[in-house]
Amino acid sequence: MFYVLFNCKMPAILVTGGAGYVGSHTVMAMLEKSDFEYEIVVVDNLSNAYRAKGEKKPVALLRIEEMTGKTIQFYEVDIRDKQGLSNVFGKHDVQCVIHFAALKAVGESVEKPLEYCQANITGTCTLFEVMRDHSVYNLIYSSSCTVYGEPEKLPLDENHPTGRGISSPYGRTKYFCEEIMKDLCASDPKWKIISLRYFNPVGAHPSGRIGEDPNGIPNNLMPFIAQVAVGRLPELKVFGTDYPTIDGTGVRDYIHVVDLADGHVKALQLFHRNGFSGFCPINLGTGTGYSVYQVISAFEKASNRPIPFVPSPRRAGDLAANWAEPAAASQLLAWNATRSLAQMCGDVWRWQSGNPNGYRE
Ligand code: UFG
Repeated sequence: MFYVLFNCKMPAILVTGGAGYVGSHTVMAMLEKSDFEYEIVVVDNLSNAYRAKGEKKPVALLRIEEMTGKTIQFYEVDIRDKQGLSNVFGKHDVQCVIHFAALKAVGESVEKPLEYCQANITGTCTLFEVMRDHSVYNLIYSSSCTVYGEPEKLPLDENHPTGRGISSPYGRTKYFCEEIMKDLCASDPKWKIISLRYFNPVGAHPSGRIGEDPNGIPNNLMPFIAQVAVGRLPELKVFGTDYPTIDGTGVRDYIHVVDLADGHVKALQLFHRNGFSGFCPINLGTGTGYSVYQVISAFEKASNRPIPFVPSPRRAGDLAANWAEPAAASQLLAWNATRSLAQMCGDVWRWQSGNPNGYRE
């Protein structure tokens, strides 16, 4: 009301890739907060999000608007389109950018390294240029534990070296972007960049109305299991049963996407802290690892369905195990993951069984 009366723009948070999996859950987490005082502006090229015929916005955002009763500003713009991005910045009073937009299929990145550099590195640099042109210096970046490469020791903390032994072009794009952000912060103290290094995001909003909707056959464990449970895929291949882990299968730090989204909301507050500036990497993980067999068993319990699986050879580039040291997030953001593996599986099952074809009717 204030902004309308005085004919000024409401402060906005610009979310690139806000129609995607982690992006949409973060938009939801922000709008669910009753005291949230920003307008949400989503920029997405819809490369991995579905918009129904005749609609202006992707289904995920329409559902969030329906659940929260709030409006999301949506622009179908590719982050490599400098003029298109600049127009969006011109229309809104952007205070901060949360940058999710990226390609993220590890296997595909091996086949198409140039496309991954274009989308993830060129796109990110274009976004930074537009931010600088509009004097916006606050950024939350969607990074990944893949920047640590082969772990030298576990758990992984933020001081672990990055960039060594990264096994995919996708992973290297995340690492290169972090290096670019460090250079940017060194060049101008106005930049405040929080790089959130995600472990393995899984789960869905407990409403069952938004969730992960991968293009084609899923590459990742949890969406694959969910599609086996719902009968879309016949069986799961367990990649590697001879790792030096609790039961021979790969161990990962799975984190509920709603916890992950809350981490972004908490990170927003860091920009207001006195003296905060520069590049700040923070792990978002639970600190606990689970094996593939443990995940299968938890999902069978949550869905009350058997998950047929076949032990198979290791997948190229996979690690035996990794999990986070989440202490920095706890100290800096007052954030801890609270949702269990059982909740992750239960929420995935609610989403997948209620939306067997994802966002497509
Ligand atoms: N797995 C299977 N069968 C499948 C899929 C996965 O057994 O069909 C196993 C993998 O071998 C691994 C575990 O399940 O042990 C988890 O695999 P995901 O593909 O779900 O996740 P990753 O840990 O391989 O990849 C994740 C992110 C990437 C990121 C990477 C960094 O999806 O974006 O972590 O380590 F680059």
